[in-house]
Amino acid sequence: MDLIEDFAFRLPVTVICDMLGIPEEHRETFYTGSRDSGRILEPVPLSPEEIKQGNARTKMSEMYFQQLFELRRKQPGDDLTTQLVQAEEDGHKLSNEELTANIILLFGAGHETTVNLIGNGLLALHRNPDQLALLKANPGLITNAIEEFLRYDSSVQMTGRAALEDIDLCGKRIPKGEAVLCLLGSANHDPAVYPDHPERLDIARPNVKPLSFGGGIHFCLGAQLARIEAEIAISTLLRRLPDLRLDDAENPQWRPTFVLRGLRRLPASW
Ligand code: HEM
Repeated sequence: MDLIEDFAFRLPVTVICDMLGIPEEHRETFYTGSRDSGRILEPVPLSPEEIKQGNARTKMSEMYFQQLFELRRKQPGDDLTTQLVQAEEDGHKLSNEELTANIILLFGAGHETTVNLIGNGLLALHRNPDQLALLKANPGLITNAIEEFLRYDSSVQMTGRAALEDIDLCGKRIPKGEAVLCLLGSANHDPAVYPDHPERLDIARPNVKPLSFGGGIHFCLGAQLARIEAEIAISTLLRRLPDLRLDDAENPQWRPTFVLRGLRRLPASW
């Protein structure tokens, strides 16, 4: 099977669809949809064609989620969409535009990143057979292993901030209004923070504190969910298919995006 398409991709999409109350019969398009929207986050210009495609995709999502709001207004469920719709109506908290933007963000943020955490983690393990054997022998290491996968090969490599006022940071003046790009993947390998071979995968590494979920008030809302999904996916796979091997661990196909770092395919057999 292809560990990305047939495995890593299914779980986060199913979970986010459940959380948002997307009915089963609407889901096929989400399972088969393209995973190319990550280009929009890249710090390089998009071509006019890509902008056109991106806008069309956003329009389609807006139309779909408008229908979902209508459905959940009429048929409330035990899901986040129902809660957000009701929050809007009770307390005038969310405008329709805010509601749509937040649901689209939750849906998008909630899967590609986690697919890549599972994929990058599995690749890292198979490229380091001693670590794979250690985890199989000590399944209790999985929680720390997930933190190490996040650090070792972060599925989000960069986030950004805008300076709200002039500030001095590490001896550099950043004028008000300037954008700052934060290279999370690089910070995760900082030898001052990880003196013991930061370039090495060590699932038992003490004090792993990856910056892969960002920080401060915009710290990833789904961090805990992503950790749990990856933990369940990887530990179940190791338990159920202990003889699984990658067809070619040294030449994987990466997706062309930089900010969202993940594999296009990861063929495996057992
Ligand atoms: C491995 C998986 C994930 C990674 C690496 C990741 C990473 C990130 C990063 C780097 C940010 C920006 C934080 C900052 O600039 O300080 C972010 C924001 C966000 N993430 Fe995640 N994320 C993941 C999974 C998820 C999931 C599963 C969800 C939702 C179900 C989610 C929802 C969000 C939302 C809503 C924000 C915006 C938060 C805000 O601006 O206040 N993420 N995430």
